[in-house]
Amino acid sequence: MRLIFLGPPGSGKGTQAKRLQAQKNWPQLSTGDMLRSAIQAGTELGLKAKEIMDSGELVSDEVVVGLINERLKGNDCQSGFVLDGFPRTIPQAQALDQLMDRLQLQIDASVLFEIENSVLIERLSGRRTCSSCGAMFHLVSAPPKKEGQCDSCGSSSLIQREDDRPEVIQKRLKVYHEQTFPLIDYYEGQGKLRRINADQSLSEVEKALSEIVEGDMNGHH
Ligand code: AP5
Repeated sequence: MRLIFLGPPGSGKGTQAKRLQAQKNWPQLSTGDMLRSAIQAGTELGLKAKEIMDSGELVSDEVVVGLINERLKGNDCQSGFVLDGFPRTIPQAQALDQLMDRLQLQIDASVLFEIENSVLIERLSGRRTCSSCGAMFHLVSAPPKKEGQCDSCGSSSLIQREDDRPEVIQKRLKVYHEQTFPLIDYYEGQGKLRRINADQSLSEVEKALSEIVEGDMNGHH
């Protein structure tokens, strides 16, 4: 299946995309992760993107469409994928439609993770990521087994993202409402929007998501 995960920062898109990747082998295509890798590698793109991301603004449509265009050529994308954090603007959604047309493929569904702002702030401020392997934790809801140490690779470099500082979180939420929110109508208009209550436990969200996936696979929507 080819899915889009749509929703505000901190709504759990990345967490569920990773779970789906492990279960179904549909790669998680996260433009945020791609940009962070470019920053870590010190590429020209990374240098440009860092300042924009740290301020909570969006990187240009042209850059992220280029990244997705390249990534979709990967062999691992042929039987399905989950777009996590892309598209985020109407021009990005239109570019994706054109790309799909060219490849003679279709997006099956766009899953909207719905959740209140107050919960998002709590989730983002408690998020910690392993800088070695990318595993994700939350200080309260999903803490590492041993404090400060990654469960997956054992590294002791659990870091807070620059853009998870309170003032940047507010900016990201504002940008989401101004630029990404219109995509809800866009995918509703295409009959592809599926809504999930993202303010539930990890396993409840996972269950709701598998019902959507099974429903779409069996043509029940
Ligand atoms: P990006 O990396 O995409 O960030 P985001 O969309 O803001 O989303 P997040 O990664 O913050 O949240 P998430 O929904 O994945 O939640 P998560 O699963 O981590 O983008 C970063 C920046 O890159 C952008 O600001 C922009 O500058 C740039 N960018 C990226 N894509 C772009 C694009 N297409 N166009 C332009 N610019 C782009 O969960 C959050 C926390 O909550 C975790 O700690 C997790 O453990 C916890 N949690 C998750 N689910 C639950 C649950 N059910 N219950 C309790 N806790 C939970």
